[in-house]
Amino acid sequence: MAVGAPTTIDDAFRKRFPKSAELYARSRRAIAGGITHDSRNFAPFPIYIERADGSRKWDVDGNELIDHWMGHGALLLGHNHPQVTAAVAEQVHKGTHYGACHELEVAWAEQINRMVPSSEWVRFAMSGTEATMLAMRDARAYTGRVKIIRFAGHFHGWHDYAMAGYQPPFDTPTSTGVPKAVAESMLVAYPNNIDSVRELLDAHPGEVAAVIVEPGGGSNGIVPTSVPFLRDLRTLTSQRGVVLIFDEVITGFRYSPGGAQQVYGVTPDVTTLAKIVAGGLPGGAVVGKRDILQVQTFKGELHKDRFERVLQQGTFNANPLSAAAGFTALRIVAEGWPTEQANQAGEQLRAGLRDVFERRGVAGVVLGESSVFQILLGEGMEQAVETTDVQRLMAGRGAVNTLRKAMLLNGVDLMRSGGFTSIVHQDEELAHTVSAFDRSLEALQREGLA
Ligand SMILES: Cc1ncc(COP(=O)(O)O)c(C=O)c1O
Repeated sequence: MAVGAPTTIDDAFRKRFPKSAELYARSRRAIAGGITHDSRNFAPFPIYIERADGSRKWDVDGNELIDHWMGHGALLLGHNHPQVTAAVAEQVHKGTHYGACHELEVAWAEQINRMVPSSEWVRFAMSGTEATMLAMRDARAYTGRVKIIRFAGHFHGWHDYAMAGYQPPFDTPTSTGVPKAVAESMLVAYPNNIDSVRELLDAHPGEVAAVIVEPGGGSNGIVPTSVPFLRDLRTLTSQRGVVLIFDEVITGFRYSPGGAQQVYGVTPDVTTLAKIVAGGLPGGAVVGKRDILQVQTFKGELHKDRFERVLQQGTFNANPLSAAAGFTALRIVAEGWPTEQANQAGEQLRAGLRDVFERRGVAGVVLGESSVFQILLGEGMEQAVETTDVQRLMAGRGAVNTLRKAMLLNGVDLMRSGGFTSIVHQDEELAHTVSAFDRSLEALQREGLA
């Protein structure tokens, strides 16, 4: 399995994954850019997967991989959890779309309300992107204000409003095609710096509708967020009548059955959910105070319903398949042991990876909490964490393409610079990932990349 000494990582990769190369060439003729998600942009080509089970997936060349991408974090219970699979299979035969209300969506929402501290009411959407977009619209409608404060380096999906302040330089939207007026309605503050939030609130009195934050840290923990900062944010937003939105698309049901808000003891006004909430199928939700979410309800008065209401539609919202998967998965997560087990695996893995860094004398850090890990390469990363140097931390993903390639050659699929642990990552899988990291760093060192 080890990368052979005479070949480069890139040569070995091309040799190991020839069918993926062929598929990518074919894909580039059919699909714009050849990929369906920017994060699958990978040189020289992305790998193509044929099937997955438990902690593993198998590519079109027959390579077995330990999966830490885990459905972008949606699969806390691993691939094909038997109860989730059975619930979806049963539902397939009962109909995949009723174009109508159904009992499972009610049960699913009730389950979320029981689990998430801030959840009094639920509205379903189809993705995290839709959830953050809707949460911003709800907050704007509720407060009658336009501007939203977000944090440098935090990720909230790919809609126009989420593109401001995501990647450096933070004053320029991360995507082209975003109208200037949209970008200007977003204000960028600095994580762990409550003064930067206060200054923006002071500079725009009565204009700020909401503050949105990834409570577990920007870009899935690459920019760690301190809990005292979250508490200060709660106090400040309450004082100023500003809606506090926790984007728990990743941390929801992962950090604990009630999300990061339950672990940290900080309750936002509104929470956005996706990934685990739908048990590995497409889905998302905005949950929060009834007082705020009532902006979406019909009042039965023509004028109010036309001029004082937030519109939300979506053909596949709370479709029966997603509802079956989500409801089943959440009931299992509510038992508590899945998060505990995945968290324990996360701790074990982070410790193992840190040992490798130390033994090899390579500069870098392993970040993350709960069942998330992030590997950042380069000098001065500890200091960047201490000072919340967002730019530096995000640059730590620099050599990530080569590291991921080396890890794939050693039988492990990282999610870019890190990934997730789940209930199916046990001692054997974790030991494999740690030794793959050791061999990968060795290969990077050989090529002068670490
Ligand atoms: C914190 C956060 N918010 C929003 C999103 C967007 O979710 P989706 O990919 O379902 O649109 C993501 C996706 O990774 C995320 O991590």
